[in-house]
Amino acid sequence: MLITLEGGEGSGKSTQCALLQAWLREQGLGVTVAREPGGTPAADRLRAVLLDRLLEPLEPVAEVLLFAASRAQTVAQVIRPALAAGQVVVCDRFVDSSLAYQGFGLGVDPAFILDVNARVTGGVLPALTLLLDLPPEEGRARKGAGGDPDRIESRGIAYHQSVRAGYLALAAADPGRFCVLDAQRHVDAVQEQVRYHVRATLAARGRFP
Ligand code: TYD
Repeated sequence: MLITLEGGEGSGKSTQCALLQAWLREQGLGVTVAREPGGTPAADRLRAVLLDRLLEPLEPVAEVLLFAASRAQTVAQVIRPALAAGQVVVCDRFVDSSLAYQGFGLGVDPAFILDVNARVTGGVLPALTLLLDLPPEEGRARKGAGGDPDRIESRGIAYHQSVRAGYLALAAADPGRFCVLDAQRHVDAVQEQVRYHVRATLAARGRFP
């Protein structure tokens, strides 16, 4: 079973992902965690290109294909073997990131993104997608003035607003898969919601011990 976490910059996905992983292990479940882009040697190289601010501007379609190339490696080397071994797989970002960031954010045709990614995933679909929703201004404030924003983070607030609106539209179009969580709440309150929805999804598939 694949569970994905989605959301904008500073929405706390990685923290929630780590807490969820620990909790699933406590329940006695086998868990594999993946993060996009990256996670295999080749995917890590692609990630470095995608996030490098010093390269020439990437064509939006090149961005779609590079994220898809990284995803192809992660699906083949990490996600598919773990699913075949009966593990619960938690993935920090998946195809919905491409639809939100490159589709809604950059105006790439969503039909093209879906077509390319259908070939990449070979039909692997999340059973549950947790969307950590947050105003981009808040996400940026959380990340703080320190640090060096990467190529995508350094896009303007209007870009990140379209990404957020895109995510909310994707969630509204597929309410059976998405759960939208208010990421402005305290980390523990968000995690409680995460566990509630994950438990329900596992139980519906007879996987909750
Ligand atoms: P990362 O440092 O992993 O960001 P975060 O901690 O916010 O997940 O960088 C991934 C960046 O790549 C992030 O800005 C979102 C972006 N992204 C896309 O634009 N399209 C995609 O398909 C994926 C997977 C990520």
